[in-house]
Amino acid sequence: MHSLTSLAGGLLGLAAVGQASPYLSFRSSNQTSPLTDCLTKAGVPISEPGTEDYDIDVSSFNLRLPYTPAVVVGANTTDHVRDAVACAAEHGVKATAKCGGHSYASFGLGGEDGHLVIEMSRMNKVVLDAESGVATAEGGTRLGHLAVELWNQGKRAISHGTCPGVGVGGHVLHGGYGMSSHTHGLALDWMVGATVVLANGSVVETSETENPDLFWALRGAGGSMGVVTEFRFNTFEPPENLTYFVGTVQWPTEERALVGLTAVQEFAKTMPAELNMRLYIASRFVNLEGLYYGDKAGLEETLAPLIEKTNATLALAKTVGWLDQLKHYGGSNLDQGHGHEEHENFYSTSLYTKELSDTQLQSFVSYWFHSAKNNTRNWHVQIDLHGGENSAVAAPAADSTSYAHRDYLLMYLLYDRINSGEYPADGHIVMDGFVDVITEGMEREDWGMYINYPNPGLDQESAQVNYWGSHLEKLQAIKKEVDPEDLFYYPQGISPA
Ligand SMILES: Cc1cc2nc3c(=O)[nH]c(=O)nc-3n(C[C@H](O)[C@H](O)[C@H](O)COP(=O)(O)OP(=O)(O)OC[C@H]3O[C@@H](n4cnc5c(N)ncnc54)[C@H](O)[C@@H]3O)c2cc1C
Ligand SMILES: *[C@@H]1O[C@H](CO)[C@@H](O)[C@H](O)[C@H]1NC(C)=O
Ligand SMILES: *[C@@H]1O[C@H](CO)[C@@H](O)[C@H](O)[C@H]1NC(C)=O
Ligand SMILES: *[C@@H]1O[C@H](CO)[C@@H](O)[C@H](O)[C@H]1NC(C)=O
Ligand SMILES: *[C@@H]1O[C@H](CO)[C@@H](O)[C@H](O)[C@H]1NC(C)=O
Ligand SMILES: *[C@@H]1O[C@H](CO)[C@@H](O)[C@H](O)[C@H]1NC(C)=O
Ligand SMILES: *[C@@H]1O[C@H](CO)[C@@H](O)[C@H](O)[C@H]1NC(C)=O
Repeated sequence: MHSLTSLAGGLLGLAAVGQASPYLSFRSSNQTSPLTDCLTKAGVPISEPGTEDYDIDVSSFNLRLPYTPAVVVGANTTDHVRDAVACAAEHGVKATAKCGGHSYASFGLGGEDGHLVIEMSRMNKVVLDAESGVATAEGGTRLGHLAVELWNQGKRAISHGTCPGVGVGGHVLHGGYGMSSHTHGLALDWMVGATVVLANGSVVETSETENPDLFWALRGAGGSMGVVTEFRFNTFEPPENLTYFVGTVQWPTEERALVGLTAVQEFAKTMPAELNMRLYIASRFVNLEGLYYGDKAGLEETLAPLIEKTNATLALAKTVGWLDQLKHYGGSNLDQGHGHEEHENFYSTSLYTKELSDTQLQSFVSYWFHSAKNNTRNWHVQIDLHGGENSAVAAPAADSTSYAHRDYLLMYLLYDRINSGEYPADGHIVMDGFVDVITEGMEREDWGMYINYPNPGLDQESAQVNYWGSHLEKLQAIKKEVDPEDLFYYPQGISPA
């Protein structure tokens, strides 16, 4: 546990609770401490405990990992962010930006008690420049709102993940893989610039030409470097129609699962850029699901060789426009802003691998059928067909951004959820077991993990190696430049060199 926890206890001891006003106040705060005095003096809105806003601001997506901040700021402007960062630095409290609050490890709350949390979700203005196709989005924008605005303002888009409540802050700054990524790359590949508040309170512009090292670091490890108050995105024009699909798979025996899994992996190596697909293995069923840039006939032709080898049934294939495919994966209410509430109680971990050997595939299937299937909880292993010859994720040079995993063929999310009650203390064993059997004996550089699908149980050292691999040394050097005192510390972030 980080040493600031005790400080937070002290601050919280002074905080008044139970006040009725739902509004953020500029005037004065009922929490009195040197830190809140500093914020009040600077005119930074404080989210007061006891209000409805506060309850929303401190809620985490993962109910298993709740944390209590020292103070929560509801930022409306870059000046609020800058002044909040300055007050945190002055009073020795760690500062953390919270955008969509959807981190699986509650990193938007700092991943521990006692941080000054800068809640960004009131800052979500999106403006598309019709001429250049470049959009600006404030640092608290959620994915669904971004998608709706880009579409409404000019029928444009970026590629990104499926959940509309996820924030661009966490998502884009650490990767951003979704149903358009095999065709159009990661969300961070659309980032062309950002305005950032640094630990020393300065506000800087970043792009390929302005502070390029920082811009490189932001695109993969942004949460450790500063607070992004504005993103600038290039955009693309989506096709008029796309086809989303589900292929159901029946693999009743280990032998058939092994044949099927082998075929999926083989297919991933050369599947066309237009196809985006993942294998979704749940405790009770297996699906292939995805999005095809084209019509149903084109999809059927593309999938035919795989269907033959896996015995999958194309149970659903529907051709629709851009927003409708987003709604299929993200729910009907895409336009999410401040106040979005969504929670689950779960353990997560992740993995990236190159092509698995026959032995590794065998271990995977054996563990699945003999150990994981025997578990009564609600788990799934989602395997995204991330890389391969025609993947837009693999196209840019591996070192072009600090995202360290472009070369991996497969990306796995391992997720174990309970629907009620308390998550069991030993619950992590089932999903960790998958990772252990796959990576057993593997060369260290042949696997990694995704910070947006974090394993909250890792110590900081292994976390950094798993998330940033060969980019870690350069990231730690940049971190030392921009945040030598580790003001933006969180338990799995980049440490200064
Ligand atoms: C339901 C659900 C579905 C998901 N689906 C996908 C998916 O399809 N593909 C995928 O790749 N991921 C997916 N994710 C994971 C998601 O990308 C990450 O959880 C992401 O980090 C969430 O971003 P956030 O802003 O909502 O989180 P937060 O918890 O607010 O922040 C996460 C991290 O980013 C930092 N941060 C946030 N905003 C800023 C900012 N403005 N400046 C600097 N740092 C900032 C925070 O300090 C923290 O370290 C999903 C998550 C959920 C809960
Ligand atoms: C502080 O609390 C008092 C009494 O509970 C209340 O009247 C007052 O409005 C509160 N101040 C702020 C800034 O909310
Ligand atoms: C923040 O911005 C919103 C929307 O622009 C506005 O309604 C609200 O009053 C602002 N709050 C503060 C504290 O500035
Ligand atoms: C597909 O079906 C055939 C015929 O029933 C069967 O022999 C084969 O093992 C199946 N393959 C898979 C991967 O399920
Ligand atoms: C194609 O997309 C448009 C919306 O962009 C929709 O109105 C139309 O019905 C779609 N066509 C088909 C064949 O689904
Ligand atoms: C499956 O679970 C039951 C009950 O927990 C246990 O007794 C049994 O040994 C398990 N079987 C395997 C193969 O793990
Ligand atoms: C703040 O930090 C940046 C990055 O290290 C540096 O370039 C800048 O000069 C610093 N500004 C001040 C006012 O110290």
